[in-house]
Amino acid sequence: MLLDTYGRIATDLRVSLTDRCNLRCTYCMPEEGLQWLAKPDLLTDDEIVRLIRIAVTDLGVTEVRFTGGEPLLRPGLVGIVERCAALEPRPRMSLTTNGIGLKRTAAALRAAGLDRVNVSLDTLRPEVFKTLTRRDRHHDVLDGMAAARDAGLTPVKVNAVLMPGLNEDEAPDLLAWAMEEGYELRFIEQMPLDAQHGWKRDGMITAGDILESLRTRFTLTPEGDGERGSAPAERWVVDGGPHTVGVIASVTRPFCRACDRTRLTADGQIRTCLFATEETDLRAALRADAPSPASDAAVAELWKKAMWGKKAGSGLDDPSFLQPDRPMSAIGG
Ligand code: 5AD
Ligand code: SF4
Repeated sequence: MLLDTYGRIATDLRVSLTDRCNLRCTYCMPEEGLQWLAKPDLLTDDEIVRLIRIAVTDLGVTEVRFTGGEPLLRPGLVGIVERCAALEPRPRMSLTTNGIGLKRTAAALRAAGLDRVNVSLDTLRPEVFKTLTRRDRHHDVLDGMAAARDAGLTPVKVNAVLMPGLNEDEAPDLLAWAMEEGYELRFIEQMPLDAQHGWKRDGMITAGDILESLRTRFTLTPEGDGERGSAPAERWVVDGGPHTVGVIASVTRPFCRACDRTRLTADGQIRTCLFATEETDLRAALRADAPSPASDAAVAELWKKAMWGKKAGSGLDDPSFLQPDRPMSAIGG
């Protein structure tokens, strides 16, 4: 098991397949993009599948989420999914994508064994999309989502980040649209993970703001007993049901105590948290030639040791908080 000193067990593995992206969301990347990882530094498909196999068969991971950057930019994605679907026990598999290219790949991903997708979409207005992502691809994202739904990659979840002065007024419109389309909408509070370090606590749109805005048009009641378990999204039933909306209040209501995640970067580093300042190099272990490359058991030990050192929380609320060196695109959402 991937246990830490606070008694948490990580069963949810986020695998970043590339740090590249075809969008430039302002809360993530600068206009000019970033210095991408060099090809030899990336884990190969075989290395990725091996690490996922170790996680699933030896370390109790039950859920695998592929992320990026933009994971659809990884040429071997469908093959990786297919090989992971053959693992025993078979993990649940999902993909967090910006949706561009999903139209082309949704059916193949489904056939390979992918269970669901999370698509990022922050606005219903093409012009605002262009400002937010610096690319004119709104239509491609909508098409991609529809293709995912048609391919049975359901429920299709939609991730939306609200930015002051850009799309902050869109929460009710996004919810009405998502209900109409049969997508499950979740708002994510903007976190300090942008490469440009432009995040300001003062300016951000909080979960409180989002709920207030939604309540101008909808009646929201907490789902279930109001306990969210390890799920970061607090979910609300809309107008008596059956639709729900989620709010992920990573900043104002952190869920670190129930966190069940472990992360693998595209260059083979284990991160215990989005905001971790230390990493554990599994790639070096896989590739070491002296005395010999690490056995599965040795890799599993390294992974366990990394997770044992997981900090209690993100430290976001601490005055000494330091933003991690890697931006979101190089960690995986
Ligand atoms: N804060 C909150 N969410 C972010 N995402 C990317 N950067 C940030 C940030 N700084 C979101 C993306 C995507 C998911 C992986 O994380 O919009 O939906
Ligand atoms: Fe790309 Fe996602 Fe970053 Fe946007 S948030 S630039 S879609 S990696």
